[in-house]
This record gives sequence, structure tokens and C-alpha cells, in this order.
Amino acid sequence: MATINKNYLKLQGSYLFSTIARKVKEYSEQHPDAEIIRLGIGDVTQPLAPAMTYALHRAVDEMGNEKTFRGYAPDLGYEFLRRAIAEKDFKKRGCNIEPDEIFVSDGAKGDCSNIQEIFGTDNTIAVCDPVYPVYVDSNVMAGRTGEYDSVTQRFAGVIYMPCTEENLFLPELPSKVPDLIYLCFPNNPTGTVMKKDRLQKWVDYANEHGSIILFDAAYESYISEEDVPHSIYECDGARTCAIEMRSFSKTAGFTGLRLGYTVIPRELEAGGEKLWPLWARRHGTKYNGAPYIVQRAGEAVYTDEGRRQVEEQIAYYMGNAKIILNGLNKAGYEVFGGVNAPYIWLKTPDDMTSWEFFDYLLDKANVVGTPGSGFGPSGEHFFRLTAFGNRENTIRAIERISKIH
Ligand code: MLT
Repeated sequence: MATINKNYLKLQGSYLFSTIARKVKEYSEQHPDAEIIRLGIGDVTQPLAPAMTYALHRAVDEMGNEKTFRGYAPDLGYEFLRRAIAEKDFKKRGCNIEPDEIFVSDGAKGDCSNIQEIFGTDNTIAVCDPVYPVYVDSNVMAGRTGEYDSVTQRFAGVIYMPCTEENLFLPELPSKVPDLIYLCFPNNPTGTVMKKDRLQKWVDYANEHGSIILFDAAYESYISEEDVPHSIYECDGARTCAIEMRSFSKTAGFTGLRLGYTVIPRELEAGGEKLWPLWARRHGTKYNGAPYIVQRAGEAVYTDEGRRQVEEQIAYYMGNAKIILNGLNKAGYEVFGGVNAPYIWLKTPDDMTSWEFFDYLLDKANVVGTPGSGFGPSGEHFFRLTAFGNRENTIRAIERISKIH
């Protein structure tokens, strides 16, 4: 008789953003006239910029011609894209990353959740609290559910590192040493950043204790301040302790197109084994690569024209972030983030729980956000709004929220 992976039963009923989508659907069925503004999931609203649509069209034409048609993509991704990434995302910032250390994928969500597969199931994981739920859920699915393993005498579970107003939403170095450490900066959901000297301490800690940092840099293109690293490889010694994941979703509006990549330096090891060949093996076995046309669109992001166009989009979203920050501040809310990230993290008024505020906002202002407690216990009494809406809706949402405060 077939049995199931019982770890799935230890997960919450549904994924955070699926729960929100269901609640909003129910509400709109009951209130068909409500004009709902969605600032919940961090999904982009601006169309692909012309340099990328032009590259897509051209690539589609190539696929329709026998002479230029392409079948399976190379395991690691096309060389033209990996070269552009190595040059523009890393070498330009003084980071020594080679094209063959880059694994192209269909997005950071898949990479963040799959990367744990190459590590032992007995590994202890450290995550910020609040945190992007994918890191925790994927480790629970793999059996890292916090139980002590009497055979290996290890605790294969999750250590939560509280990120609160008191510590400016930045985690402290853990006293119990984890094997894997997930860091996401600029942070989802709090919108905070870690300055270079502080990130350097994490790199030193990981190298000293043999931990691996899984660095999610999906929001790096939203950094506006100096001295905030765009890549963990800007820190000395990161090549021997860190894997970095990036996404084209928020940088270039690819949430529907799907493209991302993971960097694994050649010398990176865990338990005396190199990680690059393991991820290459996994990639080659379980994945057939991002579509050719999408990789060509990704390449276009690195052209001068493409770069200028995506920078305009980022400035547009950050204009929204400013409207949200200023508007909510004026209305008397306590707000954080929104300067180097497209997320605004606010304190719920009147000590409401995050979900109470979600319902209140949906009902009284017809605005959807994300309850902070959905990102972890330390997110309780907080709420996240995204700057990825269009300008008109963002302005209307803030007017409505201000009126009900
Ligand atoms: C978020 O809203 O946190 C993200 O958009 C979700 C994702 O990227 O999967």
C-alpha cells in the first residue's frame, strides 16, 4: 500500500498566499461591488519593458525556423546569459564569480526550496523570524521538523532568529550554531537591509563554524543606499560559505515569465564535499532548464537599453513605496522598510492581531495586504504592503487606509 510523506501533514493547511487568495475570493463573492485593491502578494503590475519583449519576439522567430531552432537548453543555462550575469551582476561589483558557477533556473522560489535537497536531512536550519515561508515549509517537507535524531544525535529542525523592532529587524548571530542559515536582504517581509560590515560578521561566523549561508538576493535591485551589499560575495570569504539566489521576477517583471539563478562557487564545501557537483547533478537530473526565449529576454535585461528600462520600472515601484511610507506616516501608522525594498512593514493599530487587521482592512478599505504573523511568530501585530501595485491603486489604497485610522 502506498503511504505518504507524513512531513506534509506537519505543514500549515495551505501556503500563506493561497490562504489570502481564498479569503479575498470569498469576500468578493459576498461583496460583488467592492473595488478591491491588492497590495498583498509581491507580484509586479507593470508590463515587460520593450527591450525584453523585442528579445522574446526575436527568439520566438528563431524557434520557428529549422536553422535556428533550439531543443533542450544546456544544463546550467545558456552561456550568453551566464556570461552577462557574471559580468554585470558580479564582476562589475568586484565579485569574482565565473559564468560556470551560475545555474540558470525558472526562479528563486524553486531554487530556495530545492537547494536544501543537497544537504543532510539532519541539518539544523536558522531562519529570520518573520521570514519568507518557502524556506521553512520546504525544510519541513524534507523532514527537518525539529525532532532530535538519536542515531545522528542531532537536532534536525529550525532555529528562529527573531527580527523585531528592538533589534531593528536584523537577526543576532545564533548562540546554537546552525548548519544552514537562510538570509534574505533586502528583506522580505520587513524591507530592511544589512549593511556590509554586519553581513561580513555573518560570513566570518559561517566560515568559523562550517555553516553554509543561503543568501536570497531577490530584491537587490531595489537597494538605494550606499554601503548596502548587493551580493554576499562583496564580503571577504563568502566564496567558502555562501550560496546566492537571484530572481528576474522583481528586477525585470518576470513573475509570469519565470527566470532566476543560483550561484555556487567551485570551492564551496560542506562536510568535506564540494557542493557545485551535487547541485549540477540535481539540476541535470530533475530540471530541463528555463525556456530559450526566456533566457534571451533575460539577456536583454543586461543590455544598456534593457537596464535603463528596468531601472525606470524599479523607480516607479519605489515611487509607490514612498507614497505608502509618507501616507501611512502622516496617518499616524508606525512604518518600516520601503527605502531599499519594495515592501512596507507596518505596526497594526490598536494592538490588533495581523489577521484581525487583514480582515478589518479588507472590509473597511477593500485593500488586501499580508498579515505579518503569516511570516512567523515575530511578525504578529505587523502587516506588509507591497509597492508593486500600479500608481493609481497605490494612491487610492493609501487614501482609504488613512481614512479608517
Ligand atoms: C511575496 O509576496 O512574498 C513574494 O512575491 C512571493 C514569491 O516571490 O513567491
